[in-house]
Amino acid sequence: MPDHSLPTFNPRLTGLSCFACGTAHDHRVIQGVCRVCGLPLRVDYAIRHGDLPVSRLGSRVASLWRYREVLPIATDEVTLAEGWTPLVDAGDGTWIKDEARNPTGSFKARGMSAAVSAARALGATAVVAPSAGNAAGALAAYGAAAQLSVTVAMPEDTPRGCIEECRLYGATVHLVPGTIADAGRWLREHGPTDAVDVSTLREPYRIEGKKTMAYELYEQLDGQLPDVIVYPTGGGTGLVGMWKAFGEMRTLGWLDANAPLPRFVSVQAAGCAPVVRGFESGADRTEPWVDAQTQAYGLRVPSPIGGFLCLRALRETGGTACAVAEADIAPTVRRLAAATGIDVCPETGAAWVALERLRASGWVRPSDRVVVFNTGTGLKYR
Ligand SMILES: Cc1ncc(COP(=O)(O)O)c(C=O)c1O
Ligand SMILES: [Zn+2]
Repeated sequence: MPDHSLPTFNPRLTGLSCFACGTAHDHRVIQGVCRVCGLPLRVDYAIRHGDLPVSRLGSRVASLWRYREVLPIATDEVTLAEGWTPLVDAGDGTWIKDEARNPTGSFKARGMSAAVSAARALGATAVVAPSAGNAAGALAAYGAAAQLSVTVAMPEDTPRGCIEECRLYGATVHLVPGTIADAGRWLREHGPTDAVDVSTLREPYRIEGKKTMAYELYEQLDGQLPDVIVYPTGGGTGLVGMWKAFGEMRTLGWLDANAPLPRFVSVQAAGCAPVVRGFESGADRTEPWVDAQTQAYGLRVPSPIGGFLCLRALRETGGTACAVAEADIAPTVRRLAAATGIDVCPETGAAWVALERLRASGWVRPSDRVVVFNTGTGLKYR
């Protein structure tokens, strides 16, 4: 059985501040969204140039916890050895960051390791979240590792593999008609009242786990970042997390203050593309998408609370956003899997369609170094 010592917070963690209005919040109690404006909270650290020299990392643990100086937890984190996933060379200056190798087969493990650790540090005994599938599986696994009671709600058409996985880990599963937005609403109305809600960007710590993808890219590309990052976007935690990490990497002296950042490409499905629509219309926030539909279930997030942060990250990095036709996704998954040997998920199939289109248009140049995220295994969708 796992050790049940409570995790402790990183002494460098100074507090939480609202991404939108800046209001300070105390991290020593459980927090959700900003009490003033209702938008997501960010985790702040007292870090300076030289606090995390890359030369110190070589001998560290092969998980995301190698970046402990910039993570919320100092000791006794809830871990299943998440992160430090391979960057697979796919030829032509393209790499696939294979997040399918994480515990529970998706990048959601990163966020849940951090969020469950923080909830545990604050004395939680129960956690809840709505999910498109992969986040629920990850929460169920980390909840089991921490001996917490877990309740998840998912759309009723979520792939069976995701649902059964949650049950395997002992979670209580509710299936709800509609999308993840309906699942979230259902939990707020009917879910357990004594549980910590770890919904995407409605608590501050999942993003901290996700941001380590950017730190890993820097190490794996020998102290450089790619020119372009193609990221299938639902709630946007990975995108926002990596963008936050780039800011920290500047503070730590890993990046020059004026060095260009990788251009982010946010990829969505044509049947649910609020970030693409917001980007194309020049808006500074996303509007809810009506009648959201796609079989890339992780992208079926009609009203992301962090939509304004995705738009900020795209604009600040000179990036772009692409909506991909549903009919192109499944054939591209098959073609990509057969060409690389990587078991890619539909969300990554969408990302690959976007990359091919951006190469054809010249937006991605032949000399660009490109990283595409395989955010999860395709296995659970079959
Ligand atoms: C496989 C997969 N890819 C991408 C996403 C979207 O991730 P994010 O919410 O970080 O934008 C999800 C979310 O459910 C997912 O499961
Ligand atoms: Zn606020």
